[in-house]
Formats: sequence, structure tokens, C-alpha cells
Amino acid sequence: MEITNVMEYEKIAKEKLPKMVYDYYASGAEDQWTLQENRNAFSRILFRPRILIDVSKIDVSTTVLGFNISMPIMIAPTAMQKMAHPDGELATARATSAAGTIMTLSSWATCSVEEVASTGPGIRFFQLYVYKDRNVVIQLVKRAEEAGFKAIALTVDTPRLGRRESDIKNRFALPRGLTLKNFEGLDLGKIDKTNDSGLASYVAGQVDQSLSWKDIKWLQSITSLPILVKGVITAEDARIAVEYGAAGIIVSNHGARQLDYVPATIVALEEVVKAVEGRIPVFLDGGVRRGTDVFKALALGASGVFVSSFIIYT
Ligand code: FNR
Repeated sequence: MEITNVMEYEKIAKEKLPKMVYDYYASGAEDQWTLQENRNAFSRILFRPRILIDVSKIDVSTTVLGFNISMPIMIAPTAMQKMAHPDGELATARATSAAGTIMTLSSWATCSVEEVASTGPGIRFFQLYVYKDRNVVIQLVKRAEEAGFKAIALTVDTPRLGRRESDIKNRFALPRGLTLKNFEGLDLGKIDKTNDSGLASYVAGQVDQSLSWKDIKWLQSITSLPILVKGVITAEDARIAVEYGAAGIIVSNHGARQLDYVPATIVALEEVVKAVEGRIPVFLDGGVRRGTDVFKALALGASGVFVSSFIIYT
């Protein structure tokens, strides 16, 4: 089948992937209202195009945290990519470098920061989940720095895993032979089968639910890398993030996989941009599937977008 837009990958993925894997990649939380709304909200925004402007020369390259990239589209962190392909995150790293943009590697990648770095040059950010055991975090951040990662994207919307009902029904666990590679040596690399989603049990056991604003300062004390706060969707939190010295904000609802019934990110973007008043860059992820979506986000004040899944909720 000839692919003419990224959403067409969803059907192929559904045909090719084991059900447990497809469901993990595709599911939002609970009623999946926000999952639909992330797309629907884009479709409510219309253009007022001006005409007869010379567009014979177009340059979509931009700068993010001082790094030049080919386009305002970057790769969001998504966990466990080897479930889809044996090369997993290594393939994503190669493709992102070839496209001249930035890849964000998930904490829960099935390839380590070192393996990803070994694919060759590229601008890469590291997405961080803060574990209860802070020594785990210190080691991981240090390894990311040493592997040449350029920023930390601190995910702040996951004190507990969102209730993704298919993962519960499927008793989601990491397929045999795969591990969360960054944590392998720390003995935290397995997602075992439990009576729940195995990932939900893992998060409840390991991720620090007490994470709060003061920990941004703590993170700044253990790394010199710029910190992007990923998961802001209100003006109030945007202002606090600026006060705490965030290098940027990613307006994100985690692809609607965490708290259901939060607004679409393209709706939340406006209040965040207003509150930030240009002091730091604001990025967006969630529901971006087409160039027109990117354009809408930029027009509403985003400095760039991140893309990850191509789920359209079918
Ligand atoms: C994610 N996301 C995510 N976010 C994060 O901070 N750490 C992670 O490990 C993951 N893992 C992950 C897995 C899968 C399968 C998906 C679909 C998403 C959230 C991701 O970074 C991003 O915020 C959203 O996916 C953006 O929405 P769209 O593009 O999926 O609509």
C-alpha cells in the first residue's frame, strides 16, 4: 500500500503487531475522550490565508535551545520501541539524524543511552522519569550527559500510570528478551506480568509520587543540562516552571495516556503561551499528524512540536 499520510501507518501497525503491543502503543486513558479531542481540536482551527505573497523560497529550519534543526518537528519520547522492530530506538535515532532534527529518548527505551549515542552524531534529548531511588536518577542523568545528550525533558504528568484499560485486560508486560535497557544494570529493567498492567505496577513501585517543584532545583543541582518541563497544560504551572528556571515547556497531555478529560494540547497551548510571555520557548505534542497541525501550533505561539504516535483513534 502506498502511504500518503502518517495516519495510514496505524492500520498497518494493527495488522502487523501482536495485540498486546498494538494496544499499548495505541491506548489512551479511560474513556479516551482526550485522545479523540487531541485530534478534534486541531480540526476546529481554520486558516485565514493571505494571498499573493512570494513563497518561491521557503526555509522551515529553526533553532531549539540553540541547536539548528531542519524543521520545527522533533521526535517525542516513546517507550519500548523494540516491541515494534528489532532495531527499536536505534532506528529512530538514525532516522532522526538523517532528517536533521532532534530525538528525545525515553527513560523506558529498549536501547540504552550509550547504544543510541553509538549510532552516530545527532542532537538528542533525554526524557526523565524520577525514581524513588534518587541514586538511580543521578546515575542515569550522568550517563545521558556523558553520551552527549543535550537536554533533559522531565516528564511531570506521571506520578501514577494513567488507567489504560486494554493494558489492564492484556496484563501488559515486556515481551521476553526485551528490557528497559537504561535500567538493566540497576536491576530495574523488567516489566513483569502482574494482575494489572505490568507497567502500572512498575510505576507504582518505582516512580517517585512525591515529585514536586522543589525537585526541579534538585535536578538542576545534579546536571548542567537545560531542563524542559514536559506535561504542562495550565497557565499557572507555566508561570511556576519559568520561575523555577525551566529552559522550556512542552505542552503535553502525554498523548492522552495519563489523565483523561484534560483539554487537547492545541487548546491548552494558548494560555501557556500567554503566561510565559516569551521568556522561554513553548513546545507542543499531542495529536500532531499533518503539516497543517504543525502550522497551527506555530501560529498559536509554539516554537516547535514533537511527534510520536500516529494514532487517530479508530
Ligand atoms: C508515550 N509518551 C511518553 N512520554 C514520556 O515522557 N515518556 C515515555 O516513555 C513515553 N512513552 C510513550 C509511549 C507511547 C506508545 C506513546 C504513544 C506515548 C508520550 C509522548 O512523549 C507524547 O507526549 C505523546 O505521545 C504525544 O501525543 P501523540 O503524538 O501520541 O498524539
